[in-house]
Amino acid sequence: MRVLTLLGIAASLALVPDALAVKEKDFKTCSQSGFCRRGRALAARAKEASSWNSPYSVDASSVAISPDQASVTAGVKSLLYPEVKFELELRVHDDGVVRVRMDEVGGLKKRYDEASSWALIAEPVVSKTVQWTAAKDCIRAVYGPKKELEVVVSYEPLRVALLRNGKAQVQLNGHGLLHMEHFRTKEERKIEETSQEEEQVVLDTTNPRAWFEGDSEDGWWDEKFGGHTDTKPKGPESLSLDISFPFHPVVYGIPQHATTLALPTTLGDDATYTDPFRLHNADVFEYLASSPMSLYGSIPVMYAHSEESTVGVFNAVASETWIDIWHAKPQSSDTHWMSESGILDVFLLPGPTPADVFAQYGRLTGTAAMPAQWSLGYHQCRWNYVSSDDVRMVSRKMDEHDMPMDVIWLDIEYSEEHKYFIWDHKTFPDPVDMTKDVAAVGRKMVVIIDPHLKRTSNYPVYQEATERGLTVRKPNGQDEYEGWCWAGSSSWLDCFNPGSWKWYQDLYLLDRKREDGGWTWAESTEDVHIWNDMNEPAIFNGPEITMPKDMVHYGGWEHRDVHNINGMLFTNQTWQALKARSTPAKRPFVLTRSFYAGSQRWGAMWTGDNLGTWEHMAVGLKMVLANSIGGMPFAGSDVGGFFGNPEPEMLVRWYQLGAFNPFFRAHAHIDTKRREPYLLDEPYRQMLKDILRLRYAQLPIWYTAFHQSAVTGVPILRPHWVMFPKDVNGFALDDQFFVGDSGLLVKPITTPETTEASVYLPAEDQIYYNYFTHLAYRSSKKGKTVTVPAALSEIPLLIRGGSIVPTRERPRRSAPLMKHDPFTLRVALDKAGAAAGTLYLDDGETYAFEQGDFVYRDLAAETKSKVLRISSRDLAASPRLLQVGREVSLDVYSPGNAYAKEIAGVRVERVVVLGAGKPKKVTLGDGGRELVWEFVPGVAAGGKKEGTASVLTIKDPKALIVEDWDIVITL
Ligand code: NOJ
Repeated sequence: MRVLTLLGIAASLALVPDALAVKEKDFKTCSQSGFCRRGRALAARAKEASSWNSPYSVDASSVAISPDQASVTAGVKSLLYPEVKFELELRVHDDGVVRVRMDEVGGLKKRYDEASSWALIAEPVVSKTVQWTAAKDCIRAVYGPKKELEVVVSYEPLRVALLRNGKAQVQLNGHGLLHMEHFRTKEERKIEETSQEEEQVVLDTTNPRAWFEGDSEDGWWDEKFGGHTDTKPKGPESLSLDISFPFHPVVYGIPQHATTLALPTTLGDDATYTDPFRLHNADVFEYLASSPMSLYGSIPVMYAHSEESTVGVFNAVASETWIDIWHAKPQSSDTHWMSESGILDVFLLPGPTPADVFAQYGRLTGTAAMPAQWSLGYHQCRWNYVSSDDVRMVSRKMDEHDMPMDVIWLDIEYSEEHKYFIWDHKTFPDPVDMTKDVAAVGRKMVVIIDPHLKRTSNYPVYQEATERGLTVRKPNGQDEYEGWCWAGSSSWLDCFNPGSWKWYQDLYLLDRKREDGGWTWAESTEDVHIWNDMNEPAIFNGPEITMPKDMVHYGGWEHRDVHNINGMLFTNQTWQALKARSTPAKRPFVLTRSFYAGSQRWGAMWTGDNLGTWEHMAVGLKMVLANSIGGMPFAGSDVGGFFGNPEPEMLVRWYQLGAFNPFFRAHAHIDTKRREPYLLDEPYRQMLKDILRLRYAQLPIWYTAFHQSAVTGVPILRPHWVMFPKDVNGFALDDQFFVGDSGLLVKPITTPETTEASVYLPAEDQIYYNYFTHLAYRSSKKGKTVTVPAALSEIPLLIRGGSIVPTRERPRRSAPLMKHDPFTLRVALDKAGAAAGTLYLDDGETYAFEQGDFVYRDLAAETKSKVLRISSRDLAASPRLLQVGREVSLDVYSPGNAYAKEIAGVRVERVVVLGAGKPKKVTLGDGGRELVWEFVPGVAAGGKKEGTASVLTIKDPKALIVEDWDIVITL
C-alpha cells in the first residue's frame, strides 16, 4: 500500500483506500478478457482441427489497382457472413515498407481508424516504381532495387506474404486466425447468455459460424471485472490476426513488459508464460519482475531476427491488445495479435538488416527528438523535496561534495492540494527565485504535471477546462467523467479534443497574457521542464486502475478505442507547450510514464515504480533495451529502486547501471529514507562521485549517440544482435550492450557480492580493452566469454578495438558548464592498427542545429608503413550519413557556422592510444610541431592472465576540434 505521509494528501488518501494496493489480481488475465478469450479459443480450435481454412477471401472481381500503381484495393468476404463487406488495401512505400489495411465497409458502425494518424510522423510516400500484376488466384508486386522483394496477396483464403529472394519473411493469416468481428445488432443471433465460468465449448459442427467463432456470445455485450461493468454499446468488434515470421527464430519488441529482450513463448507445452503478452497501458503497483502483464506503455512494433535477416511489423492499433508467441517450427516465429477494437493497419518492415528495420520504423513514427544536452546529465528526484529550501540545500550539497548534477525534480507535493501548476506557498513561497537559484549554476528543474484535474471551484485550470467542455465524458456523451486520483475527485483533460491543444499549451505561457484572458503559469520560468506521470491514465477507482472503457472522447470514440494513445497525446501537448515558451525555441524536456509508438518525438520515458531489489535492477535494464529497439531510446529506470531502502552496495551498483542508461535519474518513494549520493558513508560516497563523473566525462559519447539515433533511428543502447546480427550466441543477450557506435561495451553488475563478471565478446577476431585498466582481451571468430574484474568500485566496461572515444574529463557542476572544456580522445587500435569514431556537438539547447549550426567530426586512425596517423575531418561534409529523422538536415550545414565559431578555441588536450608500438616521434601534421608524449609498454599475456595494452599518451596537442588535423606518429 502506498502510504503517504504529507498532510496535503491525507484527504485524498482517505478517499482511495485499498485501490492503491494494486496486485496481480487487479489486472485481467486473458481468460478474464472477453475478446482475448475468444481469440485464444479460435486459435485452439484451429490447432485442433484436422483442416482449418480461414473463411476470409478476396473477391477477385473487385481487385483494383490505382492508376498510378500506388495502391491496390480489393473486396474481402467472410464465408460465414457473406452479407458483410470488408475492404483490403495495400500500399508499398518508397523504402519498401508494405502497409496493409482492412476495414469493414458499410457496417452498422465505424471502427476506430485514427491510431496511425497519431503515431505516424507524416503520411508515408508511396513507391512510384512498383508494378502490381493480378493473376487468377493472387495479386503480386515485385520491387526493390534488385527486384528482390515481393508482396503477394492470395485470394482464397486471404493471405498476405512478404518475400525476399523468393523466401517468405512475414506472413499474415498463414494460420487462418484473421477475424474482424463485424458490427451486429444484439438480436441477430439467438442469445444464450453464458457466464464465463459456465461456458462449455461444445461446438455444433454443423454450424460453420460456431465452428469458427464458438457457439456462445462470450463477452459480446457487456463484461464485468473487479466490481465494474463495461457496457459495450458497440458489441463485439475485436480483431484477431496471426503474423508469422518464417525462417526467423527470435522475436523482439512490443515494449513494455518486464521480461527478457528475446521474447519468450506464451503457447505450447514449454511456454514460459501461460498468458499472452498484453499491451494495455496500466499503473501496476509493485509489478512482477518477470511477466507478460502490461505496464505503463505500449509500442506495438515487433522485430523477427535470424542470421540472415531482420524483418518487422508495426501494428498501428490503439486498443487493448494481447499477443501470443510460439514457434510452430523451431526456426520460425509465430504470433497471434488480438485487439479489442480498431481497423487492421499493419506495416510490414522488410529489413533486411537491424539498421534497416530501425530506419523503416523511424520513417513511419519518427526518430527520437534531439534532447537538450543537459538532460543527459544526472537527475536528482525524490517524492518529495519538501520545500524551496530543501531544493536549495540539495543543490548546494551536491556542490559541496563536488558531485555533478543537472536537474532537481519536484514530485506532486509541490502543488497545493494536488492542483498541478499551483504552488503550495506554505512550503514553496518563492518558486521563481528558487528556480533562479538552481539555474545559477547551470541547473534546471523538472516539475510534475499529472493529467487529472481536481474538481474544485478554486482551481482555474479545472474550471477553464470544464467550462470549455474539454474533459472526457461519460457514456451518454454529455456528462463529465469523474474519477479518483491523487487530487481526490478529478476529471481528465480530453487531449483528443482539438480545442484542448491551444488552451492547454497556453497555460504554460509564463508571465505573458493569454489572448482569451485565461490563466497562465506565471510562477514558472524557462528553466522549469515537465514530468507527465499517471497518464495511462491512472485512476484509483477505475477498472484495472484506469479509465472505464466506455467513457467517451471527442468525436464520439470510446476510451477503449484510444486507450494506449491517450498518454502520448498529453506529453505531445506538454512538449509543444514548453517549446512555445521561449523565442527562439529551446528544446523541451518531458518525461512520460505512459507511451505509444511515436512518443519518442516528445521526450523520455522511465520504467515506473520498480522495487529496490536486484531482480528489478536487472529487469529494468532489459526493459530499457526493449524500449531502445522499440524506437523510444531515451529511457531509464529509477536509480536505487522506487520502493525500499537500498543497501550501499545495491545503490552503488544501481548508479553504475544508471550511468549507462540514456536517462539517468535517481528517484525514491515518499516513505523511503533520504539517499542523495552525498549522504552515503565512505567508501561508497566516493564511488558514487566517481560514477557521476564518469557519466559527465562521457557526455560527448551520449550526445553523439543521441544524434545518430535522431538521424538514423538506430537505438542508443545497442544489444548484441543489433551490433552483430550474424552472431547467434548474442541473440538472447540482454545483460550487456554497446553504447551507440562508440565501441563501449558495458556489462552492469546486477547481483550482490560480485567481484568479477563474465562478458561475452562477439564472434570476431578483435581486441577489447578494459576502459580503466587497459587489460586487453582477444575475441575469436566463434565468440568468447572472458572474465572481467568487477569489485564494487569497478564497472565492466570495455572498448572495442577499432574505436575512438571522445570524453571531457574536467569535473564540473553541470553539463552546460562543460561547453568550452577540452577533449580527451581514447584511440583503441584494432589488430591492423586502425580505429574510427565520431563526435557530434551543437549548442545543446536551441534548434539552431536544424539550420546547420553544429560540428560533426570524423575521427580516424590508420597505420601504414610504420606511421600511425590520427586524424580529424569534417564529417558533415561527407556523404556517410543516412538521414531518416526529418529534424536534422545536413543540406544547410557550413563549416564556418555560428556554433563552430563559438567553440573555435576548444581543443583536444590529451590523446590516449591503446595498443600502439613505441613511437620514435610524434608531430602535429606531417613535419609539424613535435608533441610531448609518454609511452607505457604493454605486458604480454601469461598463463591464464590477460595482457595489458601499451598506452601512448600524447599531451596537449592543442589540436582544435573544429579544424582538420593529423597527429603523425612515427613508429
Ligand atoms: C507514481 C510515479 O510512478 C512515481 O514515480 C511518483 O513518485 C508517484 N506517482 C507520485 O507522483
